[in-house]
Order: sequence, then structure tokens, then C-alpha cells
Amino acid sequence: MCGIVGYIGVEDGVDMIVEGLRRLEYRGYDSAGIAVLDEGSRIQMVRCVGKISELEKKLALNPVRGKIGIGHTRWATHGAPSDENAHPHRSGPFAVVHNGIIENYGDIKERLSAKGHVFTSETDTEVIVKLLEEEWRARSDYLESVQATLRQLRGSFAVVFLNEQEPDVLVGARRESPLILGIGDGAYYFASDIPAILHQTRRIVLLEDDDLVVVRRDGFQIQTVDGKIRPYVVQTVDWNPVAAEKAGYKHFMQKEIFEQPRAIIDTLRSVVDFNREQLRFADLKISESLVRSIARMYLVACGTSFHACLVGKYMMEQMSRVPVEVDLASEFRYRGPLLNGETLLMVVSQSGETADTRAALKEGLDKGAHCRAIVNVVGSSLARMAQGVLYTHAGPEIGVASTKAFTTQLVALFLFSLYWAHAAGKLQPGEMSYHIQALRELPGKIDEVLAGEEIIREWAKQYMDREHFLFLGRGPLYPIALEGALKMKEISYIHAEGYAAGEMKHGPIALIDDKMPVVVLVQKGALYEKMLSNVQEVKARGGKVLAFVEGDKDMRLGEDVLQFPVPATSPWLSPVVFAVPLQLLAYHMADLRGTDVDQPRNLAKSVTVE
Ligand code: AGP
Repeated sequence: MCGIVGYIGVEDGVDMIVEGLRRLEYRGYDSAGIAVLDEGSRIQMVRCVGKISELEKKLALNPVRGKIGIGHTRWATHGAPSDENAHPHRSGPFAVVHNGIIENYGDIKERLSAKGHVFTSETDTEVIVKLLEEEWRARSDYLESVQATLRQLRGSFAVVFLNEQEPDVLVGARRESPLILGIGDGAYYFASDIPAILHQTRRIVLLEDDDLVVVRRDGFQIQTVDGKIRPYVVQTVDWNPVAAEKAGYKHFMQKEIFEQPRAIIDTLRSVVDFNREQLRFADLKISESLVRSIARMYLVACGTSFHACLVGKYMMEQMSRVPVEVDLASEFRYRGPLLNGETLLMVVSQSGETADTRAALKEGLDKGAHCRAIVNVVGSSLARMAQGVLYTHAGPEIGVASTKAFTTQLVALFLFSLYWAHAAGKLQPGEMSYHIQALRELPGKIDEVLAGEEIIREWAKQYMDREHFLFLGRGPLYPIALEGALKMKEISYIHAEGYAAGEMKHGPIALIDDKMPVVVLVQKGALYEKMLSNVQEVKARGGKVLAFVEGDKDMRLGEDVLQFPVPATSPWLSPVVFAVPLQLLAYHMADLRGTDVDQPRNLAKSVTVE
């Protein structure tokens, strides 16, 4: 997720573009840049690693002026943060800023390189501007060249172009990534999100997929990429800037819970070729021969990422038949793990900076294990230390409580397991298609859960004054019970414990009474009837049951049990779907109790101390 801004007007636009980027920093902040057309219609560009403040410092030393320009604040997806990978990217008379993921950038890059184009960055974005130059050479009509370029892109994009040959025209387009058009007094603006332009105008047009907008100082036209004029509605925004950053949600955590379908789509897109039903890991560096040489695997992390690893164990062992050990990073190096050249150590981390996890990875490197990382931040410490990396594409996660990072970690671990199983020859005929189809449907399953938010808020209202909760699950939903308890603890400050449901009779059942709400996760399959028995055990002792049931409600649970139907999916992906209602439950409990949801007491987003 990145932030882009465009400007065309009668005044100099540099300050407006920089201020707009600053207001989009929550969308990404590892590098930034700006390009304008100066009075001679020449592109003047300044880029840097770091936040907008770094760009301002660089602009103070190398000032640029222009009445038409584009800007970008980056959240790296392809290529670590660097000046060369920062946007804008330029080629010939063109410059572009881009938010999104171009799935077929590798094919396009290969084709253009064969034609003599020299690429200076590792980004997918650079292929857009190189392709535009190539198309323009063939037809020399700007708009037709842009249309031809966009038609060849697969994936998501929000783009704004500059062209030295057309100094009075600003062109923007979008597909799946957000882009709005702002209408000011004698000026027009493009932006990824409303906060970027609220200080200039409240009159906007929300652009739609495959819209292509041509803006001049005296007006604009919206058409589709294939040239059909599209009617539009100008809206007036009444949000304040803070509300606008949260896109109208009350907290970043709530916004990020609702971003999960998009985050999962972006994570899938970076690996899965749905047409060919193939997986491609650009940076993981795991060959099929390495797969065959590994005798044991370790999954190591902290907190929520550790819970993802617990689910990963089920995926890896059941699909790939490779023994997996899961460890807390804070314990791992002290237990003298048996690591060698036949073991693979995979660390999992949202931030890529957690000190305990970095220490665990160092332990693996020192002992000669094959070391890989699943991280959400491109170029983070763990990404640089590991010998290969698999990125989640959750975008910046502002809320301290991890939500979209967690579900994309689960998806990444599933993709890794599926790749491993295929490389090890463990998949049955047709099994890859089954899994690819389940992945295709996954974002929609999460949308279904999100549509039930109000039901969960009503549950939270009933139980907001309780001080203890139990979360019970079996199989791959046992780690989800642990995660649901952690979410409840860390944002609503309620004491909550997750347990394997079969463990209740070995002690915790002594806790059950009519003051103890018990959340149960009921997955279809071999363990379903056992979970129903666990529910009866709890009810028999007066416990209040909140049941998340895969498929339809089960009336055998009894009228007194609250039931939330969870959309059914494959056994290995059901943890992803079950995680979401528990996030919502914890969120609404916390919101109703008035805690600081996005920045809970005593917590930090990234624990960089041991
Ligand atoms: C998650 O809700 C917590 N904030 C915390 O447990 C977190 O998962 C843990 O600190 C690990 O962070 P990392 O994923 O950035 O390594």
C-alpha cells in the first residue's frame, strides 16, 4: 500500500504535493519522491529513502518548482527501500507514480529488456513507464499510448503520469487500487485517499476501476481504459482529517480488520498464478532439491506471529509430511535447538524487527541451518538477515494489535506448505486445483464474516463487563483460540485464556461458572462432535457459551448458546476465516470498555528489545 498525489494548477504545486504525501504517510513511509515539470517543461525529480521529512530536507537542498507534478510515499512490495526503488520512475519524456502490484511485471520486463530497455530499479512500477515509452514510440499519441499500456497490465494499479511532451496534461488511472480526483479553485488533484487533499478541497470524484482521467487546467474528462466516456458525480466530503485517515472507521484496528480481504488478495497475487495454477516465490530461494534435503523444520516467532506458526505446523505436517517444531523466539536460543544443514528455520514477523526473533534467526545462521523469513516489511532487519524471504502484503499495520498481518501470515504459511508439498511430490492428483480454488474464494469468505460485525457487537455489549474469558478450539483452531484470547487480553485488558478444548477436563473446567463466558470454535470434520461435547460440558456447569460454528448453526447446541455461522472453507484455511470474528469480538469489547484500541497500555507495535 503506497500513497500517491498529483497536481495541476496555476500556482506552484511542490508544497501541496509534499503536504499531501505527509497526510498519506499512514499508507507507507519507507521512501518518497516528487517529480514536476519546470518552466521549460522538463522533468525535475527528487527521491529519497525515509519519511516525507527526509524528502523535505532534500528539497531544501535541491529545490524544484512546477505547476504540474506527481508525488509518492512508498510501502515497498518489490525491491527494498532505496533511492533507485523510490517513486516516481521515469523513462524518456514520462514519469509515473504507482500504488498496487503488477502481477505480470516479470514478463513485461523481460520483453522490454530484449528491446534494449535498461532498468535501474527492482520495482514492478518501472515496467509501466518503460512500456508507456515503448507504446508512445509506436503511435506518438499520448492518450492512446496510455490506454495501450494499461491494457497490458495484470494486477492492481493507481497511476498518475507526467509527460514532457504534454506539459498541460495530467493523466491518472486506477484498477483495484484507490484513486480520487479533487476539484479545487483553478487546480485539480489526484490522491490515493481523501486526507491528502482535504486541506485544498472537499469536492471529489471517487474514480472507479478502469477509469482513465485526462485533466487540463480548464477541466477534465473521465473515460474507461477502452475509451468510453464515463459520467461521474462530484461529492463533497464532510470528514475531518483524522477521520479521513481511518477512512471513516473509528480506529485503525477496525479499518485494518476490514482491509483483510484486500491484504490477502495482494499476498496471494504476489505468489499465485491463478491461470496456470502455479506458485512462484520471487525472493524465498527454496529449490526443489533443498526441499528434498530438509529433515526437520522450525517455525519461530513471538506473540501473534507465534500463533501463526502453530497453525503453520498443522499445514506443513499434514500437507508436506515434514516434521515441524514450533518455538517462541524468546525461548528458542536458550534451549540449545538441534540445528544443522538438514534443518530449515523459518521466522515469522510483521515488523521484521522483533529482537527475540532476530536473535533466533542468528542462532539458526550460526548453526548452519537454512534460514528464511516471512515478514511484512520489505528490507526489514529479518528480511536482510535471512537467506530468503516471503513477504506478506498486508500494507502498513498501524494498530498495535496485529490483525491483517496475522491472516496474511497464515496465508503465506499455507502457500509455503503447498509449495513444499508439491515440490516433495506429496500432492494427490487434482489437489493443487482444489487448494487454488479455496484460495480464490478465501477473500469472499472473510467479506461474509465482516458483514456480521453488528451481531458480534451485540455479543460484546452482553459481555463487556466480564473480567475473564476462556477460548476453546481443537486441531488448527486451537492456535486460533490462543490468538482470540491474546486479542481480548491486549486491547480490552480482560483476562482471557486459550485452551485446547480436550484439555478442559484436566483442570481448567474448575474455572467454569455462570460468570465465565466461554468462546468455542467449532470446525466441521473429525473433531466436530467432540467440540459439541465440550460445549455440553461447559453448559452443564453454568458456563455461558459463545460459539463460532463452521457452516450453519447447530441447533443441538441449544437455544441458550449464542451462535455465529463461519463460512466453510478447506480445513487448512479455516483458521484464517475463524480469526476474523475473534478480532471483531475483541475490538468491540475494547471499544465498549473505552480502552485505547490502537495503542493499548504497556504495548509497542514492534518489540525491538529482548
Ligand atoms: C500482536 O497483536 C501483538 N501486538 C504482538 O504479539 C506481536 O505479534 C509480537 O510482538 C510479534 O511482533 P512481530 O510480528 O512484528 O515480530
